[in-house]
Amino acid sequence: MSTVAVVGTGVIGASWAALFLARGLDVVATDPAPDAEERLRGALEGTPTDRLRFVADAGEAAAAADFVQENGPEREDVKHALFAVLDEAARPDVVLASSSSGLLPSAIARGCPRHPERVVVGHPFNPPHLIPLVEVVPGRDTAPEVVDRAVAFYTSVGKRPIRLTREVPGHIANRLQAALWQEAYSLVERGIATVADVDTAIAYGPGLRWAVLGPFLNQHLSGGPGGLAHVLAHLGPPTEEWWRDLGRVHLTPELAETLCAGVAAELDGTDDARLVAARDAVLDRLLAAKAAQPDLP
Ligand SMILES: NC(=O)c1ccc[n+]([C@@H]2O[C@H](COP(=O)([O-])OP(=O)(O)OC[C@H]3O[C@@H](n4cnc5c(N)ncnc54)[C@H](O)[C@@H]3O)[C@@H](O)[C@H]2O)c1
Repeated sequence: MSTVAVVGTGVIGASWAALFLARGLDVVATDPAPDAEERLRGALEGTPTDRLRFVADAGEAAAAADFVQENGPEREDVKHALFAVLDEAARPDVVLASSSSGLLPSAIARGCPRHPERVVVGHPFNPPHLIPLVEVVPGRDTAPEVVDRAVAFYTSVGKRPIRLTREVPGHIANRLQAALWQEAYSLVERGIATVADVDTAIAYGPGLRWAVLGPFLNQHLSGGPGGLAHVLAHLGPPTEEWWRDLGRVHLTPELAETLCAGVAAELDGTDDARLVAARDAVLDRLLAAKAAQPDLP
């Protein structure tokens, strides 16, 4: 694998390009926006770009690629049209992976009459050049061997891929986040906590442990010598009661306004760019600290 096509170079495409270039791969990037190349080169400041080529046409990018990572807008009609072009142009053995946050790969592959078996979702987390997770999701027609190749490719560039056995809207991690967001929004809507307090509850509470171990291993460790079996027996019944009280929200304009006002109050004038830089600096050190702990899974 030496050349990757990065199709769509917005937030996610630019970050994938940074990762692939840093790993010594050739990148052929494409995006129809008039200022796309300039924006991409700006986003890649600090990354060596001698292996980067920008082309105007998605078909040209796909024809040159050993692996295609698509990052266009999250709309089924746009993905259909784009995948028709990619399928037409790419060699039949080239995997076409979509970064889609929640669309089903079967729906995306409807744009590919020639080789729907080489379409997968390869869903990264923002920013993909830092966060290791990639969810590899097969559609109805995806060949198992294509999933193997996508997993092998992502592993080879230092990612931590997981594979889903079948597609569901939102894949795994966004469904888990959606469950948490639903309750977070509900707590604010019910006036039980402010936006800032909910953020503190996670970022200075369980979020710290979740960055080290997943929800199951954390729960296992909460059970002392009895482990998860003890926690489920002991705290399972009250947890079932809490489930019955969890909120279901609708994203009304009023609720959206309350949430946005809460974020503005929490930020209290702190610039988003400084927050991104601070987050990324901590993520870097956290990942290095995790890598230095061989006992962590
Ligand atoms: N932002 C996130 O947190 C995040 C995380 C993981 C996955 N994703 C997924 O990544 C994809 C891109 O999201 P984003 O946040 O980078 O969006 P974005 O709006 O920043 O970028 C989308 C890019 O696609 C380009 N584009 C428009 N039409 C195109 C076409 N026909 N062919 C190629 N490019 C085209 C746009 O010019 C733009 O640069 C989406 O599918 C999204 O669900 C986003």
